[in-house]
Amino acid sequence: MTPVPVAVLVSGGGTNLQALLDALRDSAVARVVRVVASGAGAGAGALERAARAGVPTVVLKDPADPAEIETAVGDARLAVLAGYVKHIPPAAVARLRWRVINIHPALLPAFGGPGMYGRRVHAAVLASGATLSGATVHYVDEEYDRGPIIAQWPVPVRPDDTPDTLAARVLEVEHRLLPQVVVELARLGVPEKPVRLAAMGAAFVVAEQPSVRFGDEA
Ligand code: GRF
Repeated sequence: MTPVPVAVLVSGGGTNLQALLDALRDSAVARVVRVVASGAGAGAGALERAARAGVPTVVLKDPADPAEIETAVGDARLAVLAGYVKHIPPAAVARLRWRVINIHPALLPAFGGPGMYGRRVHAAVLASGATLSGATVHYVDEEYDRGPIIAQWPVPVRPDDTPDTLAARVLEVEHRLLPQVVVELARLGVPEKPVRLAAMGAAFVVAEQPSVRFGDEA
């Protein structure tokens, strides 16, 4: 079995990228073949991690250009947004349907959308009084953080949490959830339809109920 080629799109320090690089280093199922930064000066930390791992890198000139996105993804069967803060242009989403996934540090559909990234997410969770937060991996569609959910991992909110302490615990879970989802999607051959994964013991398996897009529930 040839490992499924995976491209990782980044804008930040790259700890989720590192979790993928570590998890897939000797994997027969999936392999990180390219790291794509959202622009000059972005993702410096992530690009350093890619260089240390010997993975080729690309720096986008115009992240709003669908052709440039598709070229950067290239022969990769799966594109993973790991701390990538730019909007994927709708034309690229359409041509890469069900092949682009994103990790978000909250339990979507809550605490997502334009501008909801980084510390702001955790501050909003605490301000809402929510007792549960977590991480979500979902398909990327034409709207920020709205694509069908693939898998989620809950993280209890502590009474003494600050945005930073909550962010740190959610990030730990992200580093475990994202590689598991990538491996499972690769094992399934990156299906051309939405898949929903459910936790089964320490693993994630295909869930009974199909993945739904919000607003489809009616
Ligand atoms: C993560 O919390 C991720 O969910 C969010 O941005 C953060 C990036 O972290 N989208 P890193 O660059 O992977 O360290």
